[in-house]
Amino acid sequence: MSPSAVEIQARTLAGYADASRLRQVQDRDWVLDRITGAPESLIDLGSGIGQLLQAALERFPTLRRAVGLERSEHRLAEAADRLRPYGERVALHRADLTAPEPLPFRAEVITQTSVLHWLHPDEERVFAWAAAHLTPDGSFLLTTYHPARDEHGLGGEDELVRDALVALGTPRQEVPAVFARHGVLPIATRTRTAEDLAAVIGPHLRVAGRLEREAVVTVDSAERYEHFHAATFGDYYSRLVPEERRAEFFRAVGESAWRRQRERGHVSSMPVLLWTLTSR
Ligand SMILES: C[S@@+](CC[C@H](N)C(=O)[O-])C[C@H]1O[C@@H](n2cnc3c(N)ncnc32)[C@H](O)[C@@H]1O
Repeated sequence: MSPSAVEIQARTLAGYADASRLRQVQDRDWVLDRITGAPESLIDLGSGIGQLLQAALERFPTLRRAVGLERSEHRLAEAADRLRPYGERVALHRADLTAPEPLPFRAEVITQTSVLHWLHPDEERVFAWAAAHLTPDGSFLLTTYHPARDEHGLGGEDELVRDALVALGTPRQEVPAVFARHGVLPIATRTRTAEDLAAVIGPHLRVAGRLEREAVVTVDSAERYEHFHAATFGDYYSRLVPEERRAEFFRAVGESAWRRQRERGHVSSMPVLLWTLTSR
């Protein structure tokens, strides 16, 4: 059986420009608003399709070096297309942030939005890397998501996935075991608490500031959430079901989100923190 359009979307993480309007886009301006002065260098960690870099290049004409590090080849290719007009002001590198290679320069600003949970349990390496790549007065601006979690460590997107698995026939109480059996660590476990994170950051960087906002996701249809899920989480969760049921799984995630939207007036709501980290 050939894969459905949404399965192909999940494999290639496509459609992110549109999907990210639902949640991640707000982080971009929030982070860029914290930058003071006229920076010449910025490194974005987990730069996705290059939207933050583009916004920074537009906002700060002084920026001569805007660098993106990203793991997904599909995303890097989309970012390269988007950022081509900025010529030599931009460099994009393929990188795994759980084992980041050193770069031969330091930056005044390092940013990372909606990425840290994917680096679990190796987050510390990115803080050590940032400490070694910030100029003495530089700042690392980081956003982190903090969904509430249940006694099994599930919360946030895991809840929608749990509903979808139940709709496909898995008894609700067995869902945590299904996650464990497939090696899928719940996202609400990947996203450490603020206190845990502060302990991981502490040896490398100083917390100079912390802001909080509530990220509320609303949708106008099940299909819209189905595509947001595929573009954001890719095939991370869909491996919980056999290949021939994946199209059905994505549809069930969309339907579960739409049910929540009708019942609660939103799909999800969770605190997001913006950390300003500086050299020790
Ligand atoms: C939710 S997206 C956020 C993208 C962008 N920062 C934004 O705010 O729109 C998470 C990004 O982190 C990247 N990523 C996940 N794990 C990574 C790793 N180990 N190394 C580098 N990039 C990674 C993904 O490919 C994806 O582009």
